[in-house]
Amino acid sequence: MVSVFDNPARSAASLIDDRPEEEIFRVNRAAFTDQAIFAREMSEIFEKGWLYLGHESQVPAHGDFIATRIGTHPVFVMRGGDGNVRCFYDACTHRGSKLTGRTSGNATTLTCRYHGWCFNADGVCTLVRGGKEAYRGGDLDRMSTDLREIAGLGSYKGFLFGCLDADVPPLDDFLGGAKPFIDLMADQAPDGLEVLRGESRYMMEANWKLQTENSTDGYHVATVHRNFATTVAYRETLSPDGDGGMAKTEASRILSLEKIGSGGYDVGNGHMINWADRGNPEAGPLWPQRDELLQRFSEGKVKWMLERGRTVTLFPNLLFNDVASTCIRVWRPIDVNLTEIETWCIAPRGEAPEARRARIRKYEDFFFPASLAVPDDVRAMEGVQTGSDALDDGWNDLALGRKTLVYGADEAARELEVTPLNSNPGREVETPFFAFWREWAARLG
Ligand code: FES
Ligand SMILES: [Fe+2]
Repeated sequence: MVSVFDNPARSAASLIDDRPEEEIFRVNRAAFTDQAIFAREMSEIFEKGWLYLGHESQVPAHGDFIATRIGTHPVFVMRGGDGNVRCFYDACTHRGSKLTGRTSGNATTLTCRYHGWCFNADGVCTLVRGGKEAYRGGDLDRMSTDLREIAGLGSYKGFLFGCLDADVPPLDDFLGGAKPFIDLMADQAPDGLEVLRGESRYMMEANWKLQTENSTDGYHVATVHRNFATTVAYRETLSPDGDGGMAKTEASRILSLEKIGSGGYDVGNGHMINWADRGNPEAGPLWPQRDELLQRFSEGKVKWMLERGRTVTLFPNLLFNDVASTCIRVWRPIDVNLTEIETWCIAPRGEAPEARRARIRKYEDFFFPASLAVPDDVRAMEGVQTGSDALDDGWNDLALGRKTLVYGADEAARELEVTPLNSNPGREVETPFFAFWREWAARLG
């Protein structure tokens, strides 16, 4: 038996047993527990790829900012006085103090709390306290005092992504086959989407990749979320027509999965899709816009928007969720067994008050840290983290749905005119995970 104290140097490739010709795909549980692997993930994935930062609607005005992290690096996105959005390392150029004191806000001047240097919203250092006099002839001119921007900032339909390495493929290429599925959310309103106010942030004592898997895992829903489904189903019997029926939730997607269409896709670059028909699509807050949407988009696209709930999990740590409500979720690794998770509700601008109200209530039902679903997910993932230490050389065999995997599009994908790398009928499949793990292994080398 190999002791954990032997600390063998494992390669990522050795943790993935991928034999397509034999229909085998397994992941060694050390991928969730190995500290050396975690360090490589930070350098090879989080410092060398596109990561989600936020949505443009969160920084509409001069001085608006959102503070976040890329890997272990604190950064902030800010709208400058010239109207441009930039992303800076969140570190004072004097001696490194973090500049933002809050996770979001407005400040046309950022003043460092340590020695009082000031920076404007364009990142220009506007004040060195005491100036040259204070430096007593010291060579202030040779210092780079302006804030340092990260290497790349990109936007796709208002969603902002950043990268620390200039040598990455264009954002458009990275999003690739996931774009039509992002569009199903982004194209919902002629005036675009807005992230709603408020922040939800919570910690999970588990590896970040467990949240990546969980976000596209349809197999756990009937067990982990039975509490959610039975509770909302019962509630609807008490008050069936709140907000004109839009307050209803799609319990049937969980309680009657065998009766509805569902599936999973690998759309390349590590991105995964999981979908299921909505049990009662007319309860969706977007349903009243059906006629307007049909004038702008194909019948197939509108069908996907309104009648199919979707989880779009983007490599490595982002989820666009459009099921009972609409949610953006990001999970940021802190340590090999500690992850910070943040969620926002996102909605079409200008939607009717009853639709907005129903959307927020259903967001609270499922996506809030103290909702009917999130605590159950977190406990499940923390249980996996603990259990992953239990076996020497334990392997997760991702065999669920392996025999029904088809390469290319299925009928539902053809309705959207997309061609995934592979498709699988049924939401309770593990084959979309191949997309993530193959990209993960390729990035770590
Ligand atoms: S560290 Fe910011 S002014 Fe000194
Ligand atoms: Fe879940």
